[in-house]
Amino acid sequence: METKVYTASHVEEAGKQLQKGELVAFPTETVYGLGALASNDEAVKNVYRVKGRPSDNPLIVHVASKQIEDWVLTVPEEAYPLMEAFWPGPLTLIFQAKEGVFAPTVTGGHSTVALRMPDQPLTLQLIEAAGFPLVGPSANTSGKPSPTSAEHVLHDMKGKIAGILDGGTTDIGVESTVLDLTDSEMPTVLRPGAVTPADLERVLNKNVRTGPTAIGEEAPKAPGMKYIHYSPKQPVYLITGEEKDWETLIKKVSAEGKTFGVLASEERIQRLQEMQRGKGSPLYSLGSKNIPEEASRRLYAGLRYFDEKNVDLILAEGYPKAGIGEAFMNRLEKASTFIYPSQESGEKSINGGGSMLY
Ligand code: TXA
Ligand code: MG
Repeated sequence: METKVYTASHVEEAGKQLQKGELVAFPTETVYGLGALASNDEAVKNVYRVKGRPSDNPLIVHVASKQIEDWVLTVPEEAYPLMEAFWPGPLTLIFQAKEGVFAPTVTGGHSTVALRMPDQPLTLQLIEAAGFPLVGPSANTSGKPSPTSAEHVLHDMKGKIAGILDGGTTDIGVESTVLDLTDSEMPTVLRPGAVTPADLERVLNKNVRTGPTAIGEEAPKAPGMKYIHYSPKQPVYLITGEEKDWETLIKKVSAEGKTFGVLASEERIQRLQEMQRGKGSPLYSLGSKNIPEEASRRLYAGLRYFDEKNVDLILAEGYPKAGIGEAFMNRLEKASTFIYPSQESGEKSINGGGSMLY
C-alpha cells in the first residue's frame, strides 16, 4: 500500500483514514506513535501485526482532553492535579479499565488501561478529526529504537500503513513516563520519562514508588519491559566510566580486530579525536554532556545512524542518572549488551549477551 505523508493542512483527511480503520502514524512531543482508532478491534490488531509486537503488551490510548471520565472505570483523586500539571505532556496514567469502551485488544487482556494526552497540537487535532481516542505505540518495528522523525517512521513502516502525519523532529526523544495510579496508596512509576518522580511527588505531596526497572529485580509490571528494546543492528557497549575506561575498552576491542562507532557527548568525541582514537570510526554526537535533554532528544536517531554504518559494535557514553538522565540511561541500558565498567569487577553482560531479558 502507498503510505501518504500528511502535513498540517491535511489533518482532516488523515482523520478520515483512521475512521475507516486504517493506520496513520502521528507525531508527539516524545516519539512518533502508530495510530489506530481505539474502538476498532481489527485496526488495533493490525497495529500489533505491523509492529510485530507481542499481543500481551498493552497499548497507550491517546486522548485530546482532560475529560477522561467516559474512558475509565473510576478517576482516582490523584489524577486531577497530575493532569492539571502535566497534560498535555509526557505523562501516561494507568487506570482501571471500563468494560466495552475500547476494543479488547487495546489492553492486551489486562484489567487496566493507559491514557495520555500528547503535547502536539497536530495530533490533538487528529484525534478530534478521527472522533475517538487513538492507540499509539511507538511507530517502530518492535525491538528497534523508537522513531523521532517522520523519516524513521517511513523507514520501518513504509508500505505497511496508510499514512503518517509529519510534525518534524520530536522534542523530548524518549517515551512518556508511565505512572500506575490503580493503587492510590502507592503511585508507581513503571517507566521513567521526562516527568520525574520528584516532579510527581511535588504535585501529589506524597511519595511515589519507582517500579522495578533494574535488571534482576522482581518481574516488571509494565508488560513491555520484559522484551528486548531499542536495539540497533550492532551490539552496544555502554561505558559509564571515565577516560581510562574508554582507553581500556578501545584497546581491547581493537586488539580483537573489531571496528566500532561512537555515540557520545561532544566533549567525549573531541577528546577521542585529540587522542587520535578510533580514526575513521563513525561518530554521532549527543550534544554537550551538560545537557541531558539534548542527549535524550538525539538518542534514538543516534542508534539508528549506525544501521547504515559498517561497524562491528557501538561504544556509547553513559550520563548521570538525574532528571531526564534517568530515562535516557534506562533506554540506553536496555539497548546495551555490555556495561563497562560494571559495579562489581570488570566487564559485565547486562542483557545476557543480547538475549530476551526485555
Ligand atoms: O511517549 C509515549 O508514551 C509513546 C508516544 C507515541 O505516545 N508511546 C509509547 O507506547 O511509548 P508503547 O506502546 O511503545 O509503550 C507503552 C508502555 C509499554 O511499556 C506498556 O507495557 C505500558 O506502556 N503499558 C501500556 N498499558 C499498560 C497497562 N495497562 N499497565 C501497565 N503498563 C502498560
Ligand atoms: Mg515502544
